[in-house]
Amino acid sequence: MSIWRISGGNRLNGDIRIQGAKNAVLPIIAASIVTSCETELINCPRLSDVEAAMCILRHLGCIAERDGDTLYIDSRGMSATDIPHELMREMRSSVIFLGAILARAHSAQLYYPGGCELGARPIDLHLDALRALGAQISDSGGKLECSDSGLKGTRINLSFPSVGATENIMLAACAASGETVITNAAREPEIVDLQDYLRKLGVCVFGAGTPTISISGFNPVQVVGHRVMTDRIAAATMLCCTAATGGKVRLLSVEPAHFETISEALEYMGCQIERGSTEITISSNGILRAPKPVVTKPYPGFPTDAQPLLMAACLKADGTAVFTENIFENRYRHAVELRKLGSDISVVGRVAMVTGVPKLIAAPVTATDLRGGAALVVAALAAEGETQLYDVGHIVRGYERLDEHLRALGGDIHYKC
Ligand code: EPZ
Repeated sequence: MSIWRISGGNRLNGDIRIQGAKNAVLPIIAASIVTSCETELINCPRLSDVEAAMCILRHLGCIAERDGDTLYIDSRGMSATDIPHELMREMRSSVIFLGAILARAHSAQLYYPGGCELGARPIDLHLDALRALGAQISDSGGKLECSDSGLKGTRINLSFPSVGATENIMLAACAASGETVITNAAREPEIVDLQDYLRKLGVCVFGAGTPTISISGFNPVQVVGHRVMTDRIAAATMLCCTAATGGKVRLLSVEPAHFETISEALEYMGCQIERGSTEITISSNGILRAPKPVVTKPYPGFPTDAQPLLMAACLKADGTAVFTENIFENRYRHAVELRKLGSDISVVGRVAMVTGVPKLIAAPVTATDLRGGAALVVAALAAEGETQLYDVGHIVRGYERLDEHLRALGGDIHYKC
């Protein structure tokens, strides 16, 4: 069990280059097998989730190698269509490979990813959509047996704009005859990045970023290069750290529009934010007021992934902040841990009320999940004393060298030997 020792009170100052987006690189890694091709992916973060996806590629018979922040994937030798249970358990979003394996091989065997800390995480929307495209899917004992005798394009309306389901449909539709139209599709920027990669691969796909996406043909190319977009949630995390500690930090190679909802909230709370085309600078004196009510929604609404992060920045803010979590049914587990630092948080159903306290006091806390763990880092940086943060494995799943970046900005955070 890895532990971080975080001593609060230091202001953060300096520049940081934000990592490539975890939630963009994972579906693009899956997309690299929809046809026999070689892919070079630039700006890929070193994350355990990315390593898990590369293990799946190798299990399927592909070559997957890393050289710094560049991944080289050769899917020409793909020879398997199954994902073993132990690899599915490593990363529940491996379900994104289902559409890609079907598109390539018309047969796929994998396991229900199962729930996680955030909730049940069902995949009914994924499976219903793939069946609508003509896939036969049976499940017994948690194992999914999938096959098709030729996928056929169709119109698919999602009852909820699921990010993963939208991505799975886009990948399976690459092999479908005729046009596939997704309505009420997810509009996240990571979907647009996936579309950009698929277009380079020779897929005729339009509409990503809007509620309607069309896929209508595929003239495969053999070699593709792509630069992965920047991680908007990693950017939001650094903004919330700086807001909470005070200081002045410039984020480099970002797309400010992708996390404008967080920037706006922090400005309302009392931070100064300067937006450039590929960078953003936040200045804070650490004295904040509570934001307007925060309601999580599918993009372009306030992202659920940033809810724990902004909550942590509110813990010493003047007034009461009200959060409503509409995306996941169990995304307040970090509140229990934040209370151990002396915060005043009450949770009733999907609503959390955070009333600012004069100070936070260091205490042993445990990361409950990826973004909940990052929220504990934000809070510990603003607490008095040394916080011991346990189970940082949750955090390194999605943040590349977060401790090193924070130390470079003046944060006192170290692994406990
Ligand atoms: C993606 O998860 C992200 N993960 C999540 O980021 C993010 O929180 C989420 O989208 C929402 O933005 C990756 O991209 C790898 P969904 P995903 O399908 O695709 C319900 C992080 O911290 N649902 O949009 O799983 C589901 O239960 C992670 O980086 C169904 O009911 O999200 C949830 O309540 C956490 N049936 C809601 O939709 C389905 O078939 C949103 O899920 C699928 C989803």
